[in-house]
Amino acid sequence: MATTLAHFTDPHLPLAGVRPTELFGKRIIGWLSWTLRRRRAHRAEALRALLEDLRAQAPEALMVITGDVVNISSRAEFAAARAWLEELARPGNLALIPGNHDCYVGDAVKAGLPLLAPWMSGVPAAADLPEFPTVRLVRNVAVIGLNSAYPAPWREASGRLGEAQLKRLERILRDCAGKGLCRVVLVHHPPLAALSDKPRKALKDAAALEAVLERAGAELVLFGHTHRWAHLAWSVNGGMMHVLSAPSASMKPGCERPAAGWQKITISRRQGEWLYRVERRALMADMSVQQYEALHLSGDRAHP
Ligand SMILES: [Fe+2]
Ligand SMILES: [Fe+2]
Repeated sequence: MATTLAHFTDPHLPLAGVRPTELFGKRIIGWLSWTLRRRRAHRAEALRALLEDLRAQAPEALMVITGDVVNISSRAEFAAARAWLEELARPGNLALIPGNHDCYVGDAVKAGLPLLAPWMSGVPAAADLPEFPTVRLVRNVAVIGLNSAYPAPWREASGRLGEAQLKRLERILRDCAGKGLCRVVLVHHPPLAALSDKPRKALKDAAALEAVLERAGAELVLFGHTHRWAHLAWSVNGGMMHVLSAPSASMKPGCERPAAGWQKITISRRQGEWLYRVERRALMADMSVQQYEALHLSGDRAHP
């Protein structure tokens, strides 16, 4: 039986407001950037059109969001993001990880990031952020969520995972492999240094993550942050890992970055091999959502 994931990323919901007392340090730069530039590219109507298509095309899928739900981590943004998530899906049907914009400054947790905790852990009553990596099981697929967000310095959009999280990740990957599960890793920042635009936007410990993935193996890695489509096949311990990203889910057509898109990933197993059908769908100039490309991938891995 196949398992379907509906992956989208970086919705950057419209900036719902910010209190004057919250406008200090890096938030001022972020607020100016939103007001002068970003709000013209990230549009609520683009996101609505994309999600309407997603619901129609993949009603049974586990939704996966790889971070950057908000912009400057203000209180009002987190409250609006929670209302948006409540409308979108029950926590058990959506796996969310944070992006750098969800942990924009040091007081993001105080400002309300834990309001999104139910969709990170899958537990409706969760009031605190879960310990990462999180693990969600859907039949024979393990969706493993990493947290690469931290309050980066001014002019940086970097990420980091830290040694403790990487250690737990390696344990989880080995454990899931032992159980014959398809391991889908979620991370906001590009997991490979080669996929990053600029060092100031990169995952600082990408080399350590690469080493864990090479040693322990994984079947798929889904990421966001770059606001671009990407696919890279990478040979890791015992098989082929596919690394996939999508544009921002709210990017209107005709901007500098590719228009909003999402990917429907159907995972099945045939004769000991993982097969992935990836249907990529994108927003067109007339605001309809159409198939952008279809990838037929395989893992070529024999589980014990
Ligand atoms: Fe983003
Ligand atoms: Fe980001």
